[in-house]
Amino acid sequence: MFDSAMDDFVNEVRERSDIREVISRYVTLNFKGGRYWACCPFHNEKTPSFTVSPDKGMFYCFGCHTGGNVFKFLSLIENVSYFDAIKLQAERLGIDLPSHKKTAAELKLEQKQKTLFKIMTLAQDFYHNNLVKTAAGETGRKYLEARGITSGVIEKFKLGYAPDSWDALTKALKSRGFDDRYLFDAGIVSRKQDGAGVYDRLRGRVIIPINDINGNVVAFGGRILGEGEPKYLNTPDTVIFSKGKLLFGLDKANRAIMSADCAVIVEGYMDAISLISAGIENVVATLGTAFSDNHARLLTRYTRRIILCYDSDEAGQRATIRALPMIQKAGAEVFVAVVPDGKDPDEFVRKHGKAAFENLLKNALPFFEYKLQYVMSHADIYSYQGKIRALRELLPVLAEIKDVMIQTEYRQKISAALVLDENIILDELHNFLANAEKKLNQKINPIAEKPEAQENILARQAGSSIIKKAWYEGDVLSYVLGYVPKEIFLTKHREILSYLEKCHEMGKHPNDLSAADELSEAANAELSRILASYPVNFSAADDKAYEDSLKVMRLIYVKSQYENIRREVEESYNSGDEAAYLEKLQRALEIQREMEELKFA
Ligand code: GTP
Ligand code: MN
Repeated sequence: MFDSAMDDFVNEVRERSDIREVISRYVTLNFKGGRYWACCPFHNEKTPSFTVSPDKGMFYCFGCHTGGNVFKFLSLIENVSYFDAIKLQAERLGIDLPSHKKTAAELKLEQKQKTLFKIMTLAQDFYHNNLVKTAAGETGRKYLEARGITSGVIEKFKLGYAPDSWDALTKALKSRGFDDRYLFDAGIVSRKQDGAGVYDRLRGRVIIPINDINGNVVAFGGRILGEGEPKYLNTPDTVIFSKGKLLFGLDKANRAIMSADCAVIVEGYMDAISLISAGIENVVATLGTAFSDNHARLLTRYTRRIILCYDSDEAGQRATIRALPMIQKAGAEVFVAVVPDGKDPDEFVRKHGKAAFENLLKNALPFFEYKLQYVMSHADIYSYQGKIRALRELLPVLAEIKDVMIQTEYRQKISAALVLDENIILDELHNFLANAEKKLNQKINPIAEKPEAQENILARQAGSSIIKKAWYEGDVLSYVLGYVPKEIFLTKHREILSYLEKCHEMGKHPNDLSAADELSEAANAELSRILASYPVNFSAADDKAYEDSLKVMRLIYVKSQYENIRREVEESYNSGDEAAYLEKLQRALEIQREMEELKFA
């Protein structure tokens, strides 16, 4: 996006922006000693320490040390990204966003990616032919057969064999007109030490093609035949492959995942291949990297129920424990299927069959149960300190459980497992929640401390932008008012919104009903201001402003909710109603989380 047209655009917006004028829309500036001064809008203060130097185009607060240029100011005060602040200011100045043309660099990259896809497909054919058609492939065929991999599966995954040669693949591809440079960039060859030429990266290995979500071959994994190091060798990250952002098998499994509304994640691609060939199709594998939130986001497009089925050895358990909260944070329900006695899913399904594996999935443990078992088997539960340490490991998971009944049940389970008084567990949970609350509070402070008047300015701007949208598109009203109750809008805006609702119900465009007749003088003036201050057409920038405005209003609403729940938390605490207190505290945390999300959206 940041091509030269974009640079010019940003420069023009910067040059035409007067920082004093922009900031004085939000705070009252007084001139003194060569600078402008005000009470800082970003922290609470009585004497001004916020300064603006128009000649430098900068602002700075000596109190909270916030500072920067005009866009920084706008992004902070409007609670938008830096780039959105630029766009916002451009809109105010009436400067159009440059339309995006692909840059030379982007076109070149696209071209390159296309060539690499071609190379990878040819390499896949080469490996595959070697496996199924040549004498050299015999060892590979034997190996796969011994692992119970049928020719159907070989075809489905286009498995291959890399002959034990330094240049078989290189030669084959060079004869197709691809030079060293491209083969290297595709990741399928390595450079010779002396820099003269390249050699095949994968040799004497069974080849597993790795596809992106569209089914393009983007990388290869190579399994050594039998014992030896390294057991697996993968081609490296390239411009078409990033191993941390790809799940093996997702291109094939996505339909099965959607129809089962559940995805099974395994550690190795051989596990995935083995399960799929056994008829369990909703399976994907990571590529020898830790499960990341990128992976979680990829999967939650298809399902919100995820079963982790890693090896049951110590490394697998640790990887499971690390992956669990990541998946939960992506908004999925997460379970752990435990493969008995140290086996991996591949070995298990080959030995016991599909039904037995499905049974493991059916008996998968909820996150908490698994974590409890894990902590119990790793903690020193014979000392009090050890018990408390174990308990504290469980608290983050426990605190996430919203259902009071289930949470109570789990507290009892912990109590029984650790032989700890339930009151101790409750106390620790309170401390944990209170600490979490404190941390969140610190994060959202900038907003919490924004003075009342500031909030009114925000509410007025946001309300205006929403009204403008509703003026042109009455359909949005029901959504808007479901998201932000009408009481949250300024009085004038409330009136206008009711009027717009009425127009919409009557199937009329607001132009057709005289606003002057329907609205109070104040509301009418405000409506005129809103409509006059915007161009007639609704632009993409307006839409963005509208969406941001919804968030601003929602934040104001949620903040008011938060004040209420806080009071209730105190009341239930004082009255000693344990269950109510916990429930309210949790609700308060949920609200805080939403506040935080809105603040950082
Ligand atoms: P098999 O022994 O063939 O059944 O493999 P596995 O799936 O049981 O492999 P394992 O559990 O040892 O490893 C799981 C995943 O980790 C593999 O799919 C690879 O992605 C990765 N991995 C394992 N060993 C190596 C290695 O030596 N090098 C690299 N780069 N990755 C490895
Ligand atoms: Mn294995």
